Amino acid sequence: MQNIQLYVQKHKDRFISELIELLKLPSISADSAYEKDVIKTADKIKESLERAGCDLVEICETPGYPIVFGEKIINPDLPTVLVYGHYDVQPPDPIDLWDSPPFEPIIKKTETHPEGAIFARGACDDKGQMFMHVKALEFMIETGQLPCNVKFMIEGEEEVGSKSLSWFVERNQEKLANDVILISDTGMIANDVPSITTGLRGLSYVEVEITGPNRDLHSGLYGGAVANPINILTKMIASLHDENNYITIPGFYDRVENLSKEERAEMAKAPFSIDAYKKSLDINDVYGEEGYTTNERNSIRPTLDVNGIWGGYTGEGAKTVITSKAYAKISMRLVPNQDWEDITQLFKNHFESIAPKAVAVKVTPHHGGQGYVTPIDNIGYQAASKAYEDSFGKKPIPQRSGGSIPIVSLFEKELKSKTILMGFGLDSDAIHSPNEHFGIWNFLKGIETIPLFYKYYTELK
Ligand code: BES
Ligand code: MN
Ligand code: MN
Repeated sequence: MQNIQLYVQKHKDRFISELIELLKLPSISADSAYEKDVIKTADKIKESLERAGCDLVEICETPGYPIVFGEKIINPDLPTVLVYGHYDVQPPDPIDLWDSPPFEPIIKKTETHPEGAIFARGACDDKGQMFMHVKALEFMIETGQLPCNVKFMIEGEEEVGSKSLSWFVERNQEKLANDVILISDTGMIANDVPSITTGLRGLSYVEVEITGPNRDLHSGLYGGAVANPINILTKMIASLHDENNYITIPGFYDRVENLSKEERAEMAKAPFSIDAYKKSLDINDVYGEEGYTTNERNSIRPTLDVNGIWGGYTGEGAKTVITSKAYAKISMRLVPNQDWEDITQLFKNHFESIAPKAVAVKVTPHHGGQGYVTPIDNIGYQAASKAYEDSFGKKPIPQRSGGSIPIVSLFEKELKSKTILMGFGLDSDAIHSPNEHFGIWNFLKGIETIPLFYKYYTELK
């Protein structure tokens, strides 16, 4: 496949401008005000798959947002790669912290991206990364080098829990039949340190509500005599970690898989600078579970974090009040073997048990999913590794990520295939944050690497 680099050089301006058009659509799945834009984005992806040369492209309706399905079957006896990605994006807030509007993509140079990066919500997560697969397919079809069959399944609800995709996968096993699933929705260590993601954490996301008195009260007349739901909530939350930052929920660690000394030593070989890490976040020190390194804390260990907390008066000035209710959104990142539904139940039982009688507590589960591990002796991993070796000139490092793509474990259960996570983003690309961006170099490198995966996978299979 020598002409892939030439093809990318020749067409890169068009690839970039097509991606920019896609990034202009605010496909925010969490906010129903953007419903029309989410649907428009699905239509645009359908068109791009048709233009890339798929034989069949469909907008598949679901109880929620549609799933774009496309395929190019060249010979049923050859293997089939199923590409998954998502066209929905996170809400852009806090919008004031963006240096340029989130849905008006612009290209700017950064320290890590001297060739320039596209700044827009969804640039890296996941429109830019998903679009690399569309362009890689275009190249393979256009130049007669597609070595096997391909299916695409691009959803619009990843950022809100992939409910409709679960529904779709359970009903379409045959349509989605494949030998391997390929996803670019993760990251790599650095542009000169290629890595392949071999693990994802699971997730349990809950909302809690603490109710005290039946109305907001004067904090002078009642303060000290009735439970203040905010005081109680913060105390309860604080008790969820002990002095060594272990999670105190009984049974929480029961099924956590402990890595061997050798596996931990292997992990520690990945290049990492704690000083650069601290500097990039403007923090004086790191913080976390005693006995583990930063890279272990953010990948192979489970966590519990408050994502939002509210209640009472937060407007201008002061108001003396004891609020009737206080709330928090809490997520737990889980490691393989921990079952998200069990953990959700453990959290609920524990949180209810630690509430004083003076308040009522309600725990509402949101969504969740299991963790995932890709074995490196799998031929999909090996094909990916060879592909990176060719295009980066270096063997990639296997690396477990702290993020979650809960649907991946469902793919394994329903479609019986392994997922290969070929992510080209960097941690500094600010996914979910203001000023999200994706390096042009990374975008083009992804387009160059993907066809090599198809080639090696078909050869090894
Ligand atoms: N693409 C991310 C997940 C990710 C990013 C994994 C980087 C590894 C490295 C995905 O879109 C995402 O944001 N997932 C959510 C979970 C989902 C249920 C909302 C997450 O990890 O918070
Ligand atoms: Mn994503
Ligand atoms: Mn995301």
